[in-house]
Amino acid sequence: MKFVSEKPKTTISVIKADIGSLAGHHVVHPDTMAAAAKVLAEAKSKGIIVDYYVTHAGDDLELIMTHKKGVDSPEVHETAWNAFKEAAKVAKELGLYAAGQDLLAEAFSGNVRGLGPSVAEMEFVERPSEPIVVFMADKTEPGAFNLPLFRVFADPFNTAGLVIDPKLHDGFKFEIYDVMAGKYVVMNAPEELYDILALIGTPGRFVIRRVYRKSDNEIAAVVSVERLNLIAGRYVGKDDPVAVVRAQSGFPAVGEILEAFAFPHLVAGWMRGSHFGPLMPVSQRHARCTRFDGPPRVVALGFQIKNARLIGPSDLFDDPAFDETRRLAQMIAEYMRRHGPFMPHRLGPEEMEYTTLPEVLQKLQNRFVEAKLYEVKGPKVKTELLE
Ligand code: F6R
Ligand code: MG
Ligand code: MG
Repeated sequence: MKFVSEKPKTTISVIKADIGSLAGHHVVHPDTMAAAAKVLAEAKSKGIIVDYYVTHAGDDLELIMTHKKGVDSPEVHETAWNAFKEAAKVAKELGLYAAGQDLLAEAFSGNVRGLGPSVAEMEFVERPSEPIVVFMADKTEPGAFNLPLFRVFADPFNTAGLVIDPKLHDGFKFEIYDVMAGKYVVMNAPEELYDILALIGTPGRFVIRRVYRKSDNEIAAVVSVERLNLIAGRYVGKDDPVAVVRAQSGFPAVGEILEAFAFPHLVAGWMRGSHFGPLMPVSQRHARCTRFDGPPRVVALGFQIKNARLIGPSDLFDDPAFDETRRLAQMIAEYMRRHGPFMPHRLGPEEMEYTTLPEVLQKLQNRFVEAKLYEVKGPKVKTELLE
């Protein structure tokens, strides 16, 4: 009889929800974080999870957990669900704004996916030293990570290692999820760069969900792809996303991972989930949205994982090296704001979370005057794919 000794695996689960916040949709209240931390402490003492770190990005409560139970573990998901429930209870007691907002279901049923919270989880055999970066964004959508993750894992102008480190030189595989159709496709970089970009350039629909190292299929990154409005069938808040990225020795360096956020690209979200604005990398202290409920921001916490314990974090954007990015983000924010209710500051009608357009059109129905100035033959560009 042959014994195959399997190396023990560690799972990191980052699960988040907006369960209500202080001063509108601004910032998580510390008492709700304490309520969630209590549930996680109990789960740790029962051996369900090995370690945890509770934090927030703006109005989103973030649970970072490590354990040995693999992805989609019902026990771990139930722990997160209970933590959110307890936190939401406190939010209701304190009269916090939108208390319980993201908890769409009454009862837990095996997995938090589809119940409101967003999830980014990965399982791996720990390297002797395992650095990871956890990204948490507020006032934007999962596709906001498309551009920076593409740059980290496929753009040699961002990631020097793709060119000069033999361990990265083969490239990476992108699992791209179609949030409308509920399908995914795995594509190779650098071979299929242009096809990958053809998809992920539409970040409201095609979202990078996972990245694997091509040479050995090792998981490199994972992003939460839940879109709340698609789950609930109505607007219930933005799907402020989270991501986990593994770093160093065979993966991009921490500095290469952070470098992709030095450009504050335009993302959908901001005020009422209906505006484009720059994604501003900030320290944990500044992870609280103010101007026009924004601008959208992202926090990066660096950890080492050792025997499933979380060592850290280090607040990675808490650095003057990102001051110029932040300054540029302010200038872009100012420029975009000057457009007021006009596109392209305001999102297109199909992506807006709030709209009065149907009512306004209805009201004006009898005042529109027929005027066939030319024959309309329909759109020239094929749009079926995007309908
Ligand atoms: C965006 C967000 C906020 C709210 C806005 C209006 O994701 O959470 O910008 O959309 O503050 O909120 P309500 O409708 O709750 O007054
Ligand atoms: Mg909120
Ligand atoms: Mg939020």
